[in-house]
Amino acid sequence: MDRPAIGMPATATPSVVLRGVGTRYPGGVTALEPLSLTIPAGQFVALVGASGAGKSTLLRTLNGLVPATSGEVVIDGITLSRSTLRAIRARTGMIFQQFNLVGRLNVMTNVLTGRLSHRRGLASLFHRFPREDFDIAHEALDRVGLTDKAWERADRLSGGQQQRVGIARALAQQPRLILADEPVASLDPGTSIEILDLLAAINRRDGVTIVVSLHQPGYVRRYADRVIGLKRGALAFDGPPEAMDDAMLATLYGADAAATSGRGDVGADA
Ligand SMILES: Nc1ncnc2c1ncn2[C@@H]1O[C@H](COP(=O)(O)OP(=O)(O)OP(=O)(O)O)[C@@H](O)[C@H]1O
Ligand SMILES: [Mg+2]
Repeated sequence: MDRPAIGMPATATPSVVLRGVGTRYPGGVTALEPLSLTIPAGQFVALVGASGAGKSTLLRTLNGLVPATSGEVVIDGITLSRSTLRAIRARTGMIFQQFNLVGRLNVMTNVLTGRLSHRRGLASLFHRFPREDFDIAHEALDRVGLTDKAWERADRLSGGQQQRVGIARALAQQPRLILADEPVASLDPGTSIEILDLLAAINRRDGVTIVVSLHQPGYVRRYADRVIGLKRGALAFDGPPEAMDDAMLATLYGADAAATSGRGDVGADA
């Protein structure tokens, strides 16, 4: 089921390896049943499943925002632990549904915060960044087409522009892996396509592994190399988007949802 990414030698270190990873929240909710999977470097993975299935928990477990309560998470060959957390986070970009920008700060400063995980000391605390970081941030803003907005307050931008800032901030980390939690759930279809096209370009041009949770089967079919489906915290599907049929959708979302969203829908083959 793991299709090697184009141009990646089969022996390349996998981007993500999960061995029996389970996650239980304090208070007793088991959000992820122990699961094992391997994501080769350079794959574009769509994470699907109904609300509460565990998509956000899995994404957060991958960069240690939520600690796994069993098993082992290995990112780029490095086992996630207290001592490796910082290094792994530094190279893992995170993109959120609500963008998570600091609205009162300008766009450039928001992008520069992507450099913080690579810097230590007081200078970074006071947002005094070296020249090199400004160059990296400028390049990231150029990539997402927002150079002209660099000095505007982040909260003055449209939702689509704010999400592009979110992508630029992730790019400024020079990531090997980008985790995106419903990055287009708050955006209209046209803007959603722009954002997903940007992620696809980063995936293909830079070979960055992408794991993105998405609710629209049409987008999954259009962008993903591989679909991972969760149901009540357990792995319920792992295959290519072509295998995502009505039966699979019914299993994940229930029969009614499959009947209405099975065929393409929003932006499917536009
Ligand atoms: N911080 C938390 N503390 C306790 N339980 C939590 C916490 N976050 C999530 N959960 C529970 O874990 C389970 C999985 O939630 P999660 O947010 O990962 O689902 P999801 O697939 O991302 O859903 P959605 O599509 O609604 O975003 C749910 O039962 C949820 O209530
Ligand atoms: Mg979620």
